[in-house]
Amino acid sequence: MVYKNYIGGRWVESHTGEVFPSINPANGEVLGEVTRSDAQDVDNAVQAAAAAFDSWRKTPAPKRAELLYRLGDLLAQHKEELARFLTREMGKILPEARGDVQEAIDMAAYMAGEGRRLFGYTVPVELPNKFGMCVRDPVGVVAAITPWNFPIAIPSWKIFPAVMAGNTVVFKPASDTPILGVRFVELIEQAGFPPGVVNLVLGPGGVVGDALVEHPLVSAISFTGSTEMGTAVNVKAARHLKRVHLEMGGKNAITVMDDADLDLALDGIIWSAFGTSGQRCTACSRLLVHEAVKKPLLEKLLARTEALRLGDGLLPTTDVGPIINKRQLESIHSHVDVAKKDGAIILTGGYIDTEGDRARGFFYRPTLLDNVTPDMPVAREEIFGPVLSIITIRSLDEAIHVNNATCYGLSSAIYTRDINRAFTAMRDMTTGIVYINAGTIGAEIQLPFGGTRKTGSGHREAGIAGLDVFTEWKSIYVDFSGKLQRAQIDTHE
Ligand code: UN1
Repeated sequence: MVYKNYIGGRWVESHTGEVFPSINPANGEVLGEVTRSDAQDVDNAVQAAAAAFDSWRKTPAPKRAELLYRLGDLLAQHKEELARFLTREMGKILPEARGDVQEAIDMAAYMAGEGRRLFGYTVPVELPNKFGMCVRDPVGVVAAITPWNFPIAIPSWKIFPAVMAGNTVVFKPASDTPILGVRFVELIEQAGFPPGVVNLVLGPGGVVGDALVEHPLVSAISFTGSTEMGTAVNVKAARHLKRVHLEMGGKNAITVMDDADLDLALDGIIWSAFGTSGQRCTACSRLLVHEAVKKPLLEKLLARTEALRLGDGLLPTTDVGPIINKRQLESIHSHVDVAKKDGAIILTGGYIDTEGDRARGFFYRPTLLDNVTPDMPVAREEIFGPVLSIITIRSLDEAIHVNNATCYGLSSAIYTRDINRAFTAMRDMTTGIVYINAGTIGAEIQLPFGGTRKTGSGHREAGIAGLDVFTEWKSIYVDFSGKLQRAQIDTHE
């Protein structure tokens, strides 16, 4: 059996007749064969989405919302089965996989609620017998290009607000997690979304992603992935003046001040640096620790890191799952190699773990690097793996400076018991997300998610802000005076 595209309400194989495998990163098991699409399949999907747009945008928003509520229920009913498969196709441990699905359930409820809000506003206007208001209009066909690290949550962040606002969608999941894309769209179909509202095209990012970005009928692209790919999307889309939402790299830091609750900080550091094997945009990859507490913190951190158990995420005894694929595994290791040459000291980890059954999968031992300075590449470049660089700081000012001095700006955290320091950090940390006394991961869908600088393109996902990229503001003036009224002129005569 081949996993197929979903176009205009039908499951269809690509005309290429080619397939690619989806592989369990914990053990190399082939989970299935997936149709390998190209630009022609993309065209079919975009045409289907474009054809469905007019009647979908005219469907009352509360009606659209009913389908989204139903989809949320279906996701909840299938949560366990989806989570188990998510662990097999993506690798994250089962409790985290359940969280991934839960984030989509939350987003369904949140965005379905928008069906009876989708607020615009009215304002007084300057002329008599005239009325002014603005409403959100859908933009048309949206391309949702999503990564493998949150294979259910992130598609929901894009697809749910897009369809809620009356757009139609072509969804291209990551090539490492295509079957989860299929499972997700099967539930969308079961929820009763009309044919063409959500379409699925499976295949390599280069071919399918490019075709989506270049297609004249695609109005907006929402992309989460690497900075390199996102930049390429932006450059291509700019030629067509398309809307682009990008969510890319991070180099997130946790600051631990000398007055912090060290045990609390420790929990946050372990969770943020090594949860999901460090494969989150929000993962903590720098620890900025005050010199006064460095010794006791590192002692405990080392012990906790060494105690982490690597393995198949389905096993309850596993703390840290595999890395998504061989290429990523090697890329993580090459960052550590460079750091070593630059003078970083490996306190623990720093190698590809091939012990026992782990030889069949892609495992990287959680790594602590001491002696890192802010200018080293390992302290600047995104690694997307379980590697934490430790930088010593001497003051809050220095911590804030180092925290902000990277080309990314997604998430920051500070542990302190001093309210003045906490508020200073809230004001001065220039990332899209700031945590006080919590690690850098674990954003909830009610608030905007996204980053400053090269993390993004200035937009946000989630929260009400998540609607912005999928809607155009339309301002409407109704003049019921029955005569010509000239704004700015008649009122000033
Ligand atoms: C991501 O890594 O791209 O805040 C998303 C978090 C999760 C989402 C991460 N809720 O870590």
